[in-house]
Amino acid sequence: MGKYDFITAELSELKAQGLYNTIRTIGSPVGAWTVVDGRRVLNMCSNNYLGFANDPRLREAAKRAIDVYGVGPAAVRSIAGTMTLHLEFERKLAEFKGVEAALSLQSGFCANLAAIPTLVGAGHVLFTDELNHASIIDGCRLTKAERVIYPHGDVAALRKALAEKKDAPRKLIVTDGVFSMDGDLAPLPEIVEAAEEFGALVMVDDAHGEGVLGSHGRGIVDHFGLHGRVDIEMGTLSKAFGVVGGYLAGKAEVVEYLRQRARPFLFSSAATPADVAACIAAVDILQASDEPVKRLWDNARYFKAKMAGLGFDLGNSQTPITPVMLGEATTAWEFSKRLFAEEVFAQAIVYPTVPRGKARLRVMVSAVHTKDDLDFAVEKFARVGRTLGVI
Ligand SMILES: Cc1ncc(COP(=O)(O)O)c(C=O)c1O
Repeated sequence: MGKYDFITAELSELKAQGLYNTIRTIGSPVGAWTVVDGRRVLNMCSNNYLGFANDPRLREAAKRAIDVYGVGPAAVRSIAGTMTLHLEFERKLAEFKGVEAALSLQSGFCANLAAIPTLVGAGHVLFTDELNHASIIDGCRLTKAERVIYPHGDVAALRKALAEKKDAPRKLIVTDGVFSMDGDLAPLPEIVEAAEEFGALVMVDDAHGEGVLGSHGRGIVDHFGLHGRVDIEMGTLSKAFGVVGGYLAGKAEVVEYLRQRARPFLFSSAATPADVAACIAAVDILQASDEPVKRLWDNARYFKAKMAGLGFDLGNSQTPITPVMLGEATTAWEFSKRLFAEEVFAQAIVYPTVPRGKARLRVMVSAVHTKDDLDFAVEKFARVGRTLGVI
């Protein structure tokens, strides 16, 4: 018996089940067209909602920041000082989101790990949607709070659970705003109402809401007009913002508490100056104009209408996230492979990212796709869909 036999066995099993993830290699900036595995292909699966990943204004801001601040923060902010850039970003982001304060973190994943175990611990109760993102799930695993997993989007079940736990001294409801694999929205107004009735805190993950929902892409709280009623918004800077990083935003007191107590802030170095400067540029662009957000939605509606017209099952998405439901993992991989041969990059999403039997291609339309690009994609989807008997 070799000591790595369990690894070899598990990897073979993943391959046998069609669940082995073959990661493709990107050889250019991420744009509408991207060099993938050495070929220029139409990119239909990045989270580059607004095309900011290769926007010249963000690139320039990042380069300038390197000239002024160097390449790294060289420290955990609370131990060896914080750069003015991070403070400027937090101030501008808070203003953009319409909240009192914001805290910058290294990634969205980190932001969820930072907030959840800081806000609740032993003796408290956490209420979490069954389809929440992996980073929320892991944030929940880091706390000793009792965990109640409620059925997806089911506010009646959430209310029942809140009533059962009404005497808990602290209660936190945490939900994705936009569910990342299906593109549907959390019933946030009803969740907030229930929270107010039972004295619970509400935290929403706005990773797929910012740059997408609300005026100028301010996110799900703005979309539902819930300003001041959600205790903490968590977000990522690696999707619509096109960079990398995460944040927590909300009431000044709550954000200050997280600044003092959240472990990924206290024990891990800050985002790089180039990243933060590019994020400031992204906020400035969105603050000044909602044009990129409008283009994104226009493209998403155009693409979805054509795909639905062809007979594809697009699930229940209410956002530009477009799941093309295919069922078995092997079908999804085969579909993705054939599309790639036709110069369209749309990666298969299989278990454990989505439940078994719900494999799909998660198609992402961007503001920088042209209508010709989208027509090209639709034509290729139609061809592969017919060959595989999906439509
Ligand atoms: C809903 C949701 N939350 C959090 C994250 C993590 O964000 P990041 O990539 O910045 O770590 C993601 C990204 O995959 C996400 O989709």
